[in-house]
This record gives sequence, structure tokens and C-alpha cells, in this order.
Amino acid sequence: MKKRIGILTSGGDCPGLNAAIRGVARAARSYFGIDCIGFRDGFRGLVQDRTFELTPDVLSGILTDGGTILGTSRDKPHRMPADYRVRDMTDAAVATYRRRELTALVCIGGGGTQKNALKLKEAGLNVVMLPKTIDNDVALTDVSFGFDTALNIVTEAVDRLHSTAMSHQRVIVVEVMGHRAGWLALGGGIAGGADVILIPEIPYDAEIVAGAIERRAHAGKTFSIVVVAEGAMSKSQANAVAKLVAAKGAAQKKADKKTASVRLDAFHAEHVNHTVDLTHRLEELTGLETRLTILGHLQRGGTPSAADRILATRLGTACAQVLSQQTYGVMVAARGRGYELIPLAEVAGKKKLVTLDYPWVQAARHVGVCLGDE
Ligand code: F6P
Repeated sequence: MKKRIGILTSGGDCPGLNAAIRGVARAARSYFGIDCIGFRDGFRGLVQDRTFELTPDVLSGILTDGGTILGTSRDKPHRMPADYRVRDMTDAAVATYRRRELTALVCIGGGGTQKNALKLKEAGLNVVMLPKTIDNDVALTDVSFGFDTALNIVTEAVDRLHSTAMSHQRVIVVEVMGHRAGWLALGGGIAGGADVILIPEIPYDAEIVAGAIERRAHAGKTFSIVVVAEGAMSKSQANAVAKLVAAKGAAQKKADKKTASVRLDAFHAEHVNHTVDLTHRLEELTGLETRLTILGHLQRGGTPSAADRILATRLGTACAQVLSQQTYGVMVAARGRGYELIPLAEVAGKKKLVTLDYPWVQAARHVGVCLGDE
């Protein structure tokens, strides 16, 4: 019987998703004789059996488009909101897979997608996963598509903010995405020549940051650019989180674990406005006029860079080959010039964060960037 695969995109969208869908489906059809269908809106479309055929016509002209022709969502089959409740819809997902007579399911996504894909593998499906995210926090892959494009967007924004900061002699704080990882802020800050870069992996002290801005002012530089990752934290905030995480880990009773978990979620929910507070604090400490720019979803929109188009095509076509060899339960990771297959069970739940000895950290310090800690 002819092989037939389903493809879905899940989690936040990013540039390069369409290039990956096209890479998988074109190679699958033309080189390996595998038919392809797409599921709409991530795992929700799988649960609800909403599909369309990925014909050559559908795949034509999408390489350069941002977003995803399949649509996406953050829904998980094992915890899906339905009828005002959260239900485990894994059986419905498995039923669709069987009804559509699929040989495999390709899930294109980040950390959350990995966990969902692993659960479906455990439920008996043949699953292959491709890593995408602008955050670059997927573990055990050199890089994920979406990151390079977002890095270019952040860099251009930081470049552009220089001239207005300089003209008005202001401090400009730029909030950059990245979830709990600092890759985008660190990379964009270095490439854009930021004066201060604050990332979650290096808790900061606002007075140290203000000191660096003041030293610049005394040296005649009357403006400063401060790039802040959305997940960055002051030292006291990081200590508070560490305590909550420890309490969650140490909790013996289910109820105590739940309480610690609720407190942790509440902390992160409240933390979303921290760059507003930091901006006010820096203005107060330095006496310099300070403005905040939040780049937000601009960083995820629009056409993918050449590097992301190539990466997504490389991993997408490798995925088709892996499917033709009937290898399942893996992530197709970027490794050097090629790819590596990582078992989902090995990677799900892991995150790639900036390490203190990562060369970008040292490079930033050596060109005089303040990272908020010293
Ligand atoms: O994971 C990608 C990402 O863009 C993060 O950088 C950010 O924290 C999050 O998604 C934003 O999510 P949403 O699209 O739900 O606002």
C-alpha cells in the first residue's frame, strides 16, 4: 500500500515553517512516492480531523512566505480545552491517524510540540519531529529554523534605534522575545552593538546597569541601548524563582506541589511587565530620559531569511528520507552540515539555554557590553 503521511505545525509560528512543509512534502512525493496531507491548526486539527491534501499546487509559491499554510495552535491532545473543560483527546488523535490510514505523522514545532509528539508515539503512532522556534531553545540541535530571521529582525531594530537614541540623547530599552532563553537578545544585542544586554541566564542588578550607562555618559556617549530578553530577571527575582522551583521539587504532598506550581505560574504571569518597571528604574537611577520599545510579534512575522529557508529545506527533505526508511520516534536535528536523529524520549522536556562559557557571552564582555552582573 502507498505510504501516506500527515504534517502539522504547532506552537508559535515562525519564518521557515512553509519552507519546511514544502521540503518534507515535495521530497516525500517526488523522491519517495509518499502522499501527504496537512492538519489544520496544530494538534487541534488532528483531534478534530480537519485536513487538506498537500498537492503540488498547494506547495507552490510558499517557500518565501512567513507563517504557516497549515495554521497553528498551542493545543495539546492530552490536555485540550473542549466544552468548557480540559480533556484528554489522545484517543481522538489516534482515531484520526488510523481513519486517514497514515504511515506517520510529522510534527513541526518547539519544546511543547516535542512533548506532545512523544505522548502520541507512546500511544502507538509513528512520529517524526522537526525543530522550529525563534527562541533557539530546542535542545540537542545546533539551531532551529526561525531563529536566524528573528535575529536579523532584532539586529535591524537595534540598528535603527541607535540613530533616534543618539539624536535625543536617550536610553532606549528594547524588549526581545526568547521565552526563558537569552539567545535572541544576546545575538541581536551583539550584532546590533547594544551597550547592555540582559538575559535570563545572567540575573542582573539594575544599579550595575545604571552604572554602565552613567560611565558611558561621562565618557561623552549621551545615549545607550539596553537589549532585554523577555525572560530576563533581576538577582532578587531570580532568587525568588529559585526558591519556588526548589519548593516545588521538595514538595512531598501533591497539594504542596500544586501550590508551588501555582505560585511559580503567578510569578511568570506578573513578570511580563518587568521591562516597563526596569525602564522607569533606569530613568530614576541615571536621570537620563529613557524609552521602551517592545518588538513583540514583529520578530516572528514575514519572510524567512536565506539561512532559514536553506535550514528548513535541508531538515524537511532529510525528514522525508527518514520517513522513507521507516525510522520513527525521532527529532531530525541540525548537526554540522548534516542532520542527526535524536530519540524523542531523549530530548522532550529539555531546553537549550545560554551557558556562561558560551563564546557569545565572552565576546560580548570583551567588546565592553554590560551583562548586568558586573
Ligand atoms: O516560542 C516563541 C515565542 O515567540 C516566545 O518567544 C514568546 O515568549 C512566545 O512565543 C509568545 O507567545 P504568543 O504567540 O502566545 O504570544
